[in-house]
Formats: sequence, structure tokens, C-alpha cells
Amino acid sequence: MTAAREDHTSTTLLTEAPAVHAPAAGAETEADAALAFPPKFIWGAGTAAYQIEGGASDDGRGASIWDTFSRTPGRVHNGDTGDRAVDHYHRYEQDVALMAQLGLRAYRFSVAWPRIQPDGRGPANQHGLDYYRRLVDCLLDHDVEPWLTLYHWDLPQALQDAGGWPRRDTAERFADYAALVYEALHDRVRIWTTMNEPWCSAFLGYGSGRLAPGVQDPHQAVRAAHHLMLGHGRAIAALRAIDAGNQLGITLDFNPAMPASGDPADVEMATRVDGLRNRIFLDAILRGAYPADVLRDLERVTDLSHLRDGDQAVIGMPIDLLGVNYYNRALVAAGPAAAGAAPMLEFPGAETAVFVPQENRPRTARDWPVDPDGLYDLLLRLHREYPPVPLAVTENGAAFNDYADPEGQVHDPDRISFLDGHFRAAQRAIAAGVDLRGYFVWSLLDNFEWEEGYSKRFGLIYVDYPTQQRVLKDSAHWYRQVIARNGLDGHPAPAPALGG
Ligand code: FCB
Repeated sequence: MTAAREDHTSTTLLTEAPAVHAPAAGAETEADAALAFPPKFIWGAGTAAYQIEGGASDDGRGASIWDTFSRTPGRVHNGDTGDRAVDHYHRYEQDVALMAQLGLRAYRFSVAWPRIQPDGRGPANQHGLDYYRRLVDCLLDHDVEPWLTLYHWDLPQALQDAGGWPRRDTAERFADYAALVYEALHDRVRIWTTMNEPWCSAFLGYGSGRLAPGVQDPHQAVRAAHHLMLGHGRAIAALRAIDAGNQLGITLDFNPAMPASGDPADVEMATRVDGLRNRIFLDAILRGAYPADVLRDLERVTDLSHLRDGDQAVIGMPIDLLGVNYYNRALVAAGPAAAGAAPMLEFPGAETAVFVPQENRPRTARDWPVDPDGLYDLLLRLHREYPPVPLAVTENGAAFNDYADPEGQVHDPDRISFLDGHFRAAQRAIAAGVDLRGYFVWSLLDNFEWEEGYSKRFGLIYVDYPTQQRVLKDSAHWYRQVIARNGLDGHPAPAPALGG
């Protein structure tokens, strides 16, 4: 089944498809012009509530699964929590001023559900709404467009206690919460995203248990995936019923799977991993149906009795924007996995997949391979194989081992090189016809990197955690110039060293 698609784009930021090959203002040479981005390209940076806000018990905020998880010994590196994080809850004005200094055109952030509904249900906590109203107004005062994500992983603990995402009711709770936030902010926020990275929430939260709530159960993971999708669809419907004038979408994380060899077994395994990782959500949303091969794989581990008639139409209703999070690709071989190796709990139905190290690529401090061509291929694939929808890269960036030198400066040439390579890949994709509207660097600030705690720094802005002092890294100064010229100069930054 393919859902009929409508174009909901109206009068806002996303109305204009990018003009291909448009020269940047100030482009001086042909080479410069070739590396220009479309006029009004949306250069931004992103964060998420639990990773930066702190203020964990301020103004009536309830507990989320991340509070519980991070306070559980052994779950997060060094026992770190988001209790204080980078104290953005109290320092947002200073941080918005830094965004303006960089020239950001947009800022992607998330709302903490437990600030709005401390127990995940019932009327809104006005203090929580007021905080986001102040943040949004401050952004608008600085000409930074707010891009609001409703769910970036911080489920109220009370809803997890009632069953969490594996329980269908959580999708209804999410739609209620989404409507409360939308009622309060739809007049000033024009771009809305329901979920961030449902794959992580479902398969890392309930499959491998690497992320909160830390459950290891493939049955629950599969149900959680569907109910996250259902929550997305129900929220889109609820928001549109209140005000159809804004742009509504979702952000998916993509990890394209490449077969490790031409061996048919490896090719087949890569297809299955791609299905369970990427197509499961993409097809449900853009084609209105889960792929048949994915359902077959899922049925190997659990029955599909949680899928109900009508659900797929809700999930597949039109969206105005698809957010693309991209960090790297996977190289996949067919198992069996090495003796004694843990099964790939993140891929129920394809647990014997083997992820082959990509030794010929530079790596980041997160140990992720650096692969800008993967972004180009992904954007082209979305463009060629799926119904048309405006795209934005809502996350891309890298952790490196940054430190402030004795002069207080932070030199991060590897991050500049990483971003330069990926921006070039995006620019090539636009030139090839991809409708890419924006690009959000992950992240604005160093922050709480989930199970890695504060040990991995992704920010354009360095944070000295004991003093909370902010320092613009070299990459932030470089990004300011990219934004100001709306493109790159003719000289690619040198590649990071192998091994990061
Ligand atoms: C993504 C998350 C984001 C951040 C980056 C590095 O999966 O959405 O919050 O942690 O990874």
C-alpha cells in the first residue's frame, strides 16, 4: 500500500525548493560558486533536552527514563547523569547569544516531556511550557528559527512503569503531550518534529538495552518500534487538527548497510539489516507500509498481534519534512558470529549479522568510521526511491578528544575536516537534484552523550564542565564563515588521520 501524498507546504521556511547551483553571495571564483549552497539554506546546530538542560528537578519536572537509567550503577560511563549537564536550563540566554554570534539560521532542540507532564499524563505543568516559551522567544529575538523536537528519548518514568513504548497506550499519551506543547507554541514555532531516532528508542532501549530504559527483550523492542511510529502518526494528526499551517515531520537515523563482499549470503544479510535498521521506519512513513521482508524477519522472533488494522494509514499520513540523521554506514557480513560473541540483540530476526570493522577509514573518538560518501548515497537514495518530501540533515557531526590549550583555545581540525567533507557531500547531492533544505551540526555544545556520559565531546562549542564556561572551538569559527558565505571555499580541509 502506498499512501497518497499531499503537499502540505505552505508559507513557511520550507516552501522554496532549493535552486540548484545557485552562486553564494560573495563567491569569488568559479570553484567557489560550484560549492555554494542554495539561497536561504538553513544552517543550524542541534541539541536535546536531557543532554544539555540540567535543572533536573526545577519547576516541577518529573523523572524520565534517563534519570533512572543514568542513576543506575554501571549504565553510564563514570556514573555521569544529566542532573546538571551544561546547565542550559539556566544559561539559555547566553547560549542563544552564542548561536547568534555563529550566525545560525536555525536551532534544533527538544522539549523534555517530563517538564510538561511530570507523570506523562494529565494537564500541562505551566512552568514547563513557560520555559520553552521563553527559550523560543529568545531565539526569535535573535533571528534564529526554532526547530522543535517533541521526543528525544526522555519518556516520563511513570509511563515506563506502566509498560513504556511496548504498550500501545503510550502512543496515545504521546499524542496528548504533543498537543499540549503545540497548543502553547504553534503560534511561534513553525517547524515541528515528532520523534528523534525511533530505531534507537526501540532497539537500543528495549533490544540491546544499551540506552534507557535498558531492557533486553526482542519482543518488547518490536512492539516499541510500532508504538513509536503510531505515536508519531497520532501526533501529526492531532497537531494538524489544531493548526495545519506549520511544517510537521519526523527525524530518522540512518545507518545504511553495505555488504562486506559480493557473496550472496553477505548481500542478503546486508539487505535484512538495512530493512530492520532503515526501511522499517522509512517505508512505514513514506510508503505507508512496513516492508514484507522486514515483517518476515520480525515474525521469526515475535508474533505481530500488536499491529492493528488502520495503524499503517495513521503512520503513513503525509509529512512536510523528513529529518535525516547520518553518522556512518555499516559493513555487514553473514554470520554465524564468532563463537561466544553476543547475538546482535539490536536486530531481532537477523541476530547473526556480523559488523565488519572498516579499517581503511579514519575514525572519530566515538570510534565511528568517517564516511561522507555515505551521506551522498543516502540522500540520493531517499530522493530516487521514495515519494518526494523535503529533507534536512538534522544531525551530523563527530566527537574528538578536544581540550582547551594554555591560551584557552580549542583547536579541532579533525572536526572541521569531518564537517567540510560532509557539507561537500550534501552540496553534491543538492547539485544532483536532492531537495535538501537544511543542515544541523550535532552538536551546538559539548554535552551528555548518553551511555558515554561526558567523555565524548561533539560540540562546536567547548564546555569546561566544572566552571560551565563556553569556548568557541576552531570549528565554530570555521562554521560561522561557512554560514556567512553560504558555502565552502574551493579547498577541501585535509582528511582526519587514520585512527582519529
Ligand atoms: C544521535 C542522537 C544524539 C547524539 C548523537 C551523537 O544518535 O540523536 O542525541 O547523541 O547521536
